[in-house]
Amino acid sequence: MTSVKPPPDRLYGRITGKKLRPRQEWLLEHFLPRLSWPQIPFAPTVTETWLEVGFGGGEHAAALAQANPQAGLIAAEVFEPGICSLLSRLAPEGADPIPPPNLRIFTDDARPLLRAMQDKSLSKLFLMFPDPWPKSRHAKRRFVHPALIADIARILAPGGEWRIASDDPTYQAWTDDVIAGQSSLHLAVRTKIRPASWPPTRYEAKALLADRQPIYWSLRAPD
Ligand SMILES: C[S@@+](CC[C@H](N)C(=O)[O-])C[C@H]1O[C@@H](n2cnc3c(N)ncnc32)[C@H](O)[C@@H]1O
Repeated sequence: MTSVKPPPDRLYGRITGKKLRPRQEWLLEHFLPRLSWPQIPFAPTVTETWLEVGFGGGEHAAALAQANPQAGLIAAEVFEPGICSLLSRLAPEGADPIPPPNLRIFTDDARPLLRAMQDKSLSKLFLMFPDPWPKSRHAKRRFVHPALIADIARILAPGGEWRIASDDPTYQAWTDDVIAGQSSLHLAVRTKIRPASWPPTRYEAKALLADRQPIYWSLRAPD
């Protein structure tokens, strides 16, 4: 694939949903600032950095952070109800919530964040069921994009991993093409069965219910 102009950092999906309930407003106003990235750093126990782009309801991010205390996960999402959903998962009702030491929330477009990261600084990148933008005239809106590969290859640590999942046939074919057209990352896994260490996501459950077959890719940076 020849070099392509990067698409503009513009968000096309929805950012707000229905009117927020009082608890959601409370979580955004009082709990979010206590775990916002980059204002609040990880605890010193964290030894590597991970990034999830578009965490949706946050079930995948919460499960990853809980199972991997050594990893500091920056969970990025722009859709307000999704952000509230992760916050409420982390904040049991009736108690003063304690931010997890290794999970931070970034509430803006993940692409500029990713580009601003230092070389070889990210151990894992997660892109689970990204918005598919199936019409070809919307292809430049897709997160998997030839123009972003160089940035991802630059920021991944040696042996670092980029996980992608999609249930959309157009996005699947597009992802296969983008992977085949680059040589900076090595395709380690391409499977129709979710690998055991990958937590499930809400979109995956919807896809399986609707009989749409997901594909899971794992790309690796050179050692
Ligand atoms: C189809 S949903 C998938 C959610 C979740 N990963 C799952 O599997 O259930 C894609 C999510 O990505 C978010 N998103 C899209 N572009 C983004 C970007 N540039 N930065 C951060 N989040 C983004 C959207 O708001 C949306 O919630």
